[in-house]
Amino acid sequence: MPIVCVLGAAIDKSDTEPLLMAYNASMSATTPFPSWLTAFTGINQWPGPDPPYIPLDFIDFSKIPNHGLRGMGVCPTTRDSCSFDCYKCVSYDDVYTCPKLSQSFDDGPSAFTDRLLDNLNHKVTFFTLGMNVVRYPETYLKAVQKGHLMGTHTWSHKFLPSLTNEQVVAQFEWSIWAMNATAGHLPKWYRPPYGAIDDRIRVIARMFGMQAVVWDYDLFDWRMETVPPTKTKQQVLEDARRFKAQGRGGFTLEHDAYASTVDAAIEVSKIYGPDQLTAAQCVDSFDYIKQYQEDDGK
Ligand SMILES: *[C@@H]1O[C@H](CO)[C@@H](O)[C@H](O)[C@H]1NC(C)=O
Ligand SMILES: [Zn+2]
Repeated sequence: MPIVCVLGAAIDKSDTEPLLMAYNASMSATTPFPSWLTAFTGINQWPGPDPPYIPLDFIDFSKIPNHGLRGMGVCPTTRDSCSFDCYKCVSYDDVYTCPKLSQSFDDGPSAFTDRLLDNLNHKVTFFTLGMNVVRYPETYLKAVQKGHLMGTHTWSHKFLPSLTNEQVVAQFEWSIWAMNATAGHLPKWYRPPYGAIDDRIRVIARMFGMQAVVWDYDLFDWRMETVPPTKTKQQVLEDARRFKAQGRGGFTLEHDAYASTVDAAIEVSKIYGPDQLTAAQCVDSFDYIKQYQEDDGK
């Protein structure tokens, strides 16, 4: 079972841990751990949900603002730190909308992503979890080969404002290494799990050259998976038609982590139509920080 997020629902560590354990137990095909990464980290296997912090010379801790740590559902009393999850605050380099109505997917790759890839006739943006990238490398590469834009959704879907600076660095660096080891590229775009971002997280991400991508339309597709379900597929599609009827662009949040959300996404794709943009295209920017030659080795 891959890691999935339960956006907005009240989950705690005890809810997510079993999923992560199951993930380790059933791990099959994985991206080989590359020798360049062993040389750099001294480690020879992909880490679990709490990846070790590996120092990087371009991370300048003196430049990271201190907003204090906060847990899920806890908001700062002021808006000074520009929290998106609490106040929908966006910074100058956040991507939060798009000239065309466009789909984006979080939490994959999963066993269901393949079906989505087979049924899309336009490009979308995937924000992948490093732990899932190394578990589904073929699916990841298939998405790349079909021209979709790949961004990171961190290594293991932690609530970033609750982590120390070192732990945030670890969440980013390991997700980037997973993408580089699997497809030879370094992401330019990231989406914070739960949309949980403030200026501390943004400053760290910028040191990696990355920009945040949030959203302006949320389909809440994951609510089809709560127990009991709190949204039907028909309601997801009604919302999609409502967004479409507004006649303006926008960036939609969906998930490729479940059969139900992938099923809905295929229908949403028909409602929106193929005239969609990737996050990079929304702001007329580039896809990756760097792309290595394919024969550079993996
Ligand atoms: C990316 O992978 C290449 C090997 O393909 C390696 O030489 C390079 O150091 C890696 N870079 C990062 C930032 O992971
Ligand atoms: Zn997520």
